[in-house]
Amino acid sequence: MPSKSNEIIFPKGFLWGTATAAHQIEGGNTNNNWWLFEKSGKIKNNDTALVACDHWNRYKQDFDLLKKLNCNAYRMSIEWSRIFPKPHTLDKKALDHYQKMIDELLKRKVIPFVTLLHFTLPIWWFNEGGLLNRDKEHLDHFAQFCRILAQTFKGKVKYYNTINEPSIVMLGYLTDMFAPGEKNIFKAIKALGTVLLMHGIAYHAVKSVDPDAQVGIVHNVQIPRPYNPQSLMDRLMAQCVDYFFNGAVIRALQKGKLPLQCIFHHKELLNTNDFIGLNYYNFLLVSPKLKDLATSATDNPLCGKDKLCAGLGWEPYPEGFYLAIKRMHRSFPHLPIYITENGIGTDNDAWRQNVMIDHLKMMHKALQEGIDIKGYFHWSLIDNFEWAQGYMSRFGLVAVDFKTQKRTVKKSGTLYATIAKANAIPASILKKFPKEIYKPKF
Ligand code: BGC
Repeated sequence: MPSKSNEIIFPKGFLWGTATAAHQIEGGNTNNNWWLFEKSGKIKNNDTALVACDHWNRYKQDFDLLKKLNCNAYRMSIEWSRIFPKPHTLDKKALDHYQKMIDELLKRKVIPFVTLLHFTLPIWWFNEGGLLNRDKEHLDHFAQFCRILAQTFKGKVKYYNTINEPSIVMLGYLTDMFAPGEKNIFKAIKALGTVLLMHGIAYHAVKSVDPDAQVGIVHNVQIPRPYNPQSLMDRLMAQCVDYFFNGAVIRALQKGKLPLQCIFHHKELLNTNDFIGLNYYNFLLVSPKLKDLATSATDNPLCGKDKLCAGLGWEPYPEGFYLAIKRMHRSFPHLPIYITENGIGTDNDAWRQNVMIDHLKMMHKALQEGIDIKGYFHWSLIDNFEWAQGYMSRFGLVAVDFKTQKRTVKKSGTLYATIAKANAIPASILKKFPKEIYKPKF
């Protein structure tokens, strides 16, 4: 890969995209379990995704913005509860609508990446036990959904992401910050196992219809660190968190063993990735002393005082991105990697620009070491419904005024557009962002 000292060049044919998820932007998704969660008052400021970005009606305008950002790829999810509002009852109109969306992307020469499950479950499926029910008949509903999509999009969609972030799905059974908001470690482990099985189901379903499709999971790599490295307890806990959030997912895909399972062997999970989708955001500080998993090193003077960790309060750790890429490459050395999400939830767009450049530099470092990274999808195209944080946390390269639905490209969006167009971080940009902002102190 060519690289001049005064600019950072990415490989030819590299994909530059943004990522979104149906429930976070579409509006009108009142037939899934997140809607139930929203109605139960668990979301900040009592926000709901009832309208969200009204993307269901404004998708053409949003895809124009995608083009304005010079993106050649886009990751979107298809809402299962729209396609099957009831068991075995296909909503043809909804399917046609998604087909039109795909056509509009292709018209703009944007390569679609379709996510089959991005957190939300149809209410009827959730009521049948959701992720805690592993009956064949129950899981077959998901296979049916995946097959229908692959049949419908054949020849138009080549890339599928099966499950978005299996380990994050577990949070719904560990905290009340995520649907369904239960706190039961046994259920959490079961849900993680089920969603991993659903990855295998999705892979085989898509391939049975479209053998040429490229299919891969999306794993959110966490970087857990002991709050106090001198404390044995903190170190043990950090390892435990690493097992459940990273190791268990990787092991299932490598060995066909579900979390904490030694005896059963799920052969159907083996060789179920044509590529790895990697999401990366932050590190976690771990200690029994901390109420939750902390995401900022509290002695960092930048955090809090200048509100640079605003939004979700995640303190960026660009080096962790490099470590995350290396880890996935070590685990699956023969598979290409797509960075399927990376970004920051903040109102401080100057901060977002810094963070973006720092992360892209880390990705480039991994590329230079020979790791086959084929594309980068920034999270997210537009500000959207950030799950339990509601509309407070803003990840978009494009701002949304949720009262008027007006979209405005942020400076970070313009910066991203320049990089995507050049397929490089040009010297002029590197000059503006000369060095890494900081490294958190662990
Ligand atoms: C999820 C997105 C979410 C983002 C920021 C990822 O874990 O896939 O849906 O908006 O993180 O929290």
